[in-house]
Amino acid sequence: MVDPKGSSSWLKSLNISDIFVWKDHGEYGALVAKIISILVPVFFSALFFGKKKGKIRGVPVDVGGEAGYAVRNARRAELVEIPWEGATTMAHLFEQSCNKHTRNRFLGTRKLIQREFVTSSDGRKFEKFHLGDYEWETYGEVFVRVSNFASGLLKLGHNIDSRVAIFSDARPEWRIALQGCFRQNVTVVTIYASLGEDALIHSLNETETSTLICDSRQLKKLDAIRSKLTSIQNIIYFEDDSKEDTFSGSSSSWTISSFSEVEKLGKEGPVEPSLPSKNAIAVIMYTSGSTGLPKGVMITHGNMVATTAAVMTVIPNLGSKDVYLAYLPLDHVFEMVAESVMLLAGCAIGYGSPLTLSDASNKIKKGTKGDATALKPTLLTAGPAILDRFRDGLVKKVEEKGGLVRNLFHFAYKRRLAAVKGSWLGAWGLEKLVWDTIILKQIRTALGGQLRFMLCGGAPLSGDHNI
Ligand SMILES: *[C@@H]1O[C@H](CO)[C@@H](O)[C@H](O)[C@H]1NC(C)=O
Ligand SMILES: *[C@@H]1O[C@H](CO)[C@@H](O)[C@H](O)[C@H]1NC(C)=O
Repeated sequence: MVDPKGSSSWLKSLNISDIFVWKDHGEYGALVAKIISILVPVFFSALFFGKKKGKIRGVPVDVGGEAGYAVRNARRAELVEIPWEGATTMAHLFEQSCNKHTRNRFLGTRKLIQREFVTSSDGRKFEKFHLGDYEWETYGEVFVRVSNFASGLLKLGHNIDSRVAIFSDARPEWRIALQGCFRQNVTVVTIYASLGEDALIHSLNETETSTLICDSRQLKKLDAIRSKLTSIQNIIYFEDDSKEDTFSGSSSSWTISSFSEVEKLGKEGPVEPSLPSKNAIAVIMYTSGSTGLPKGVMITHGNMVATTAAVMTVIPNLGSKDVYLAYLPLDHVFEMVAESVMLLAGCAIGYGSPLTLSDASNKIKKGTKGDATALKPTLLTAGPAILDRFRDGLVKKVEEKGGLVRNLFHFAYKRRLAAVKGSWLGAWGLEKLVWDTIILKQIRTALGGQLRFMLCGGAPLSGDHNI
């Protein structure tokens, strides 16, 4: 958030309430809540609220003719625009990071071992997954896939002056497709998966998108609205573990290819990359907007690199030992930047989903591991709405237990919070050890036990992160 103009458009698209998936799932939230409502107040009070109350933390500036405030990182005298020399676009940054971290783990996913349906007492059916351990691709391997995809995209006949849209849940191929497009200076349109048909039609039409990348279960939906998708020529779909949604392909005017077919095309016929310049538009992000049709926010490579570089300066000791759990939608700017930060630092990114996050999550088969316990992340992102839900879930659980547990919890929490806020009279040393062992550790292990930092964005955090 360096460029005042750029940052306002970034902020507009940060509407965390759109992370709809969280709304109906209090159960895993409760568990996850435990750890987060402890850690978060701690981190954020330390980070942001630790200073004296009432102090204005901005510099008055002229914002396009109006008076406004600029908030800058006090540790830097200069604007942070790039992470290092030569990394001026997301394409340059990616290539350089892959060269630096060739052998590091980069993108990880869990294979589906088993899928089953459980019928609850009221007759409703629930899908449950048994997922395997994380399987990884290195920076070097991903770079090869990105180059192949970039070549394949052109071989497929994508016109380099038209846009590519991605409409899918987050997964490694999402990132690979994104970086592949950047490598050929192709602007990527992203559309919130929650936006629905009209928004999709509008966004694709407005941007004259000619290639749409989606997951295979979207294909049938697209076929139903094909007459309205006049600009589309190519469809590339991500293959799925489950076979049930395969598409018969009644259409003739679209070229429909699987992601791996495109990679293969590119491998067989490499095309020279055409890296973008700093001012080229990297993504056009369609966000909810509060009224009418969704609006596309245009973000240049320069914007995105600057934000990524700036966020990186905020996370202490970020490095290749860090493991990041990516479970938010990638069509959200917050998640896209967070992942870019990880990429920059050579971290491992393990993909998960809100519905499989913890052992107690709705879609996790009983007795098997959720994403957090399988991955043991050190870093996580969340928005205020999510944190509030976590806290509420935790408070509820604790209140239900009542009695001693409740009193102990509140006491331990208060003691540690005081310590973390900087008071020497808070719980340190032996007392800290005691609270950690009997109360706080349980809460931490719900998210893998290694978490050390959370990135938060979207809207101001509620001041009420104390219980
Ligand atoms: C697509 O956009 C054009 C203008 O660029 C407009 O005339 C047309 O009605 C739009 N079509 C749909 C289906 O929205
Ligand atoms: C990249 O594409 C943009 C359009 O988004 C164009 O203005 C620019 O000249 C292209 N840059 C290069 C280096 O080809």
